[in-house]
Amino acid sequence: MKNKIDSFKKYKDEYKKSVQNPELFWKKQADQFSWEKKWDAVLKWDFNKADVKWFEGGKLNITTNCIDRHLNKNANKTAIKWIPNNTKEDIININYSQLHKQVCKFSNVLKKNNIKIGDRVCIYMPMVPELVIAVLACARIGAIHSVVFAGFSATSLKDRINDASCSLLITSDGGFRGNKIIPLKNISDEAMKETPSIKKCIVLKRTKTTVNMHKDRDVWWHEEMLGASENFNAKTMDSEDPLFILYTSGSTGKPKGILHTIAGYMVYTAYTFKNVFQYDNEDIYWCTADIGWITGHSYVIYGPLLNAATSVMFEGVPSYPHQGRFWEIIEKEKINIFYTAPTAIRALQAKGTKFVTPFDLKSLKVLGTVGEPINDDAWKWYNKHVGNNMCPIVDSWWQTETGGIMISNLAGVTPSRATYATLPLPGIQPCIVDNKGNEINDSNTKGNLCIKFPWPSIARTIYGDHIRFKDTYFKKFKNKYFTGDGALKDKDGMYKITGRVDDVIIVSGHNLGTAEIESAINQHKNICESAVVEFPHKIKGNGIYAFVISRELPKNLDQQKKEINNLISSNIGPIAKADKIQFVEGLPKTRSGKIMRRILRKIASGKTHSLGDTSTLLDSSIVDKIKSNRE
Ligand code: WT7
Repeated sequence: MKNKIDSFKKYKDEYKKSVQNPELFWKKQADQFSWEKKWDAVLKWDFNKADVKWFEGGKLNITTNCIDRHLNKNANKTAIKWIPNNTKEDIININYSQLHKQVCKFSNVLKKNNIKIGDRVCIYMPMVPELVIAVLACARIGAIHSVVFAGFSATSLKDRINDASCSLLITSDGGFRGNKIIPLKNISDEAMKETPSIKKCIVLKRTKTTVNMHKDRDVWWHEEMLGASENFNAKTMDSEDPLFILYTSGSTGKPKGILHTIAGYMVYTAYTFKNVFQYDNEDIYWCTADIGWITGHSYVIYGPLLNAATSVMFEGVPSYPHQGRFWEIIEKEKINIFYTAPTAIRALQAKGTKFVTPFDLKSLKVLGTVGEPINDDAWKWYNKHVGNNMCPIVDSWWQTETGGIMISNLAGVTPSRATYATLPLPGIQPCIVDNKGNEINDSNTKGNLCIKFPWPSIARTIYGDHIRFKDTYFKKFKNKYFTGDGALKDKDGMYKITGRVDDVIIVSGHNLGTAEIESAINQHKNICESAVVEFPHKIKGNGIYAFVISRELPKNLDQQKKEINNLISSNIGPIAKADKIQFVEGLPKTRSGKIMRRILRKIASGKTHSLGDTSTLLDSSIVDKIKSNRE
């Protein structure tokens, strides 16, 4: 992409242009891609109907733009540099020409397995190159990919497959993570007991774990690929055709299948990748996110490949085989741009600098963070011990629903400020509103973060439930997209994100809905009601504190806590566990029956001296009892 923003002045100019004439601004960006036919209209929108369309009428394929477009100049350039979990295994470099062949081959495999435009394909795989190939092959053939993070349980996988009626599941025998092997095929088998829509399952051999291959349904990746042709004409897609579904936790009910469409997502991820990280052609870029999350979709796969970048993909975990693995990789691979999450930074910070100092991190130019607010202490540690006070840190705020980075400094170009996401990207028009929806213009006043105008990669719907989409994001504040986050703005217009204002808890960067956790807990036969809140946790950012009401006081408390945690993990995944569980006689409720989480939050975080107004409580004696038995 041309026209990188390279000065604060240019940022201000671009920002102004993008607000004065958004259509012209984004048209110029879109013009840089390869289209089979240009669009009829740049933008059509109506937030009241939760209806947004970008580049409608345009015809294209995103993989032509991610791969084919680069084959002239960059055929031999590494597209994906894959680093295995096990240090004894070889690194694999896949150049653009090889990526092209593999994606074409796998597109043919998908075709052979009856996948057509618009079909949903679920991908449940470890961080291996074949995951990228599977994703891109779906896009090439016009199928909608739904990647499910390989840390999720069989129940979570099953629910996600059924929600989108996926007809194909792509998985692997297992996945390596540190010294563990996750039996992905076995978990898939468990899920597929109750997924009537699944017709086929393609299994990659990775860990050589013994698996059962189900006749007629299961086929091996390597066998399917054997005779597949290296040519596959990318399907011609409409700008507004769906590209993927990705599930994210909501404040109520089941996870939401966030749906993104092709052209707007393409334009926006490419633009933001280039500008936020100030990517230069020869840079080696590493985003540590798993492809099971939006960060992996937008900034391991699409954004970098659209810019013909070299994107590093890491199979393992930061702590294996030693606590300095990240830093060792940076040294060995001469990483220039490094993008990770505050929870990883805090965990590594806790191990001490002795794991960092042995490594030469001089190749680093830019550092990034994403996923939750970064605390001052972690920011300073990252800046000093990883960046050697020489690398700008981009604190990038965005969401699954926004598709790409929304508020962030541009590395070394716009000012950075510890714990502030800082300024909106060109094209992004945020505002902070009070609970009645009035815009707050006073500096340093906390409110609800909203966006006033559409940007190209805004989610288009929740798969199969447009009403829920409208209600969740566009109903609370008229004519605005509501983010679910709280924020404040300082006198220079810099944004600080203060955290979720809805019932979503971010634990180690993973979004967990309190409702999902509570419904898992309530499956326990001895539990009749529960309430889950967050409390500050040194490493995870937030920990989970569960208040539970039991039918009978359990004889073996620890055993019952274990059972509760097993229920949470088996329903949601191993990432979800209550750090603290307290058995209570009752929960603080208002007269209308609403649990006052505000009070539980204070108790959970130990701020019991100032519970605030408790006058609307039905029975305030409950609060004293809970307080005195705090975990
Ligand atoms: C929520 C979205 C965006 C990709 C990964 C998470 C929080 C994200 C920041 C940041 C403060 C942040 C917000 C947001 N968040 N980045 N830089 N500073 N908070 O995507 O799982 O959809 O979560 O993550 O609360 O709403 P997600």
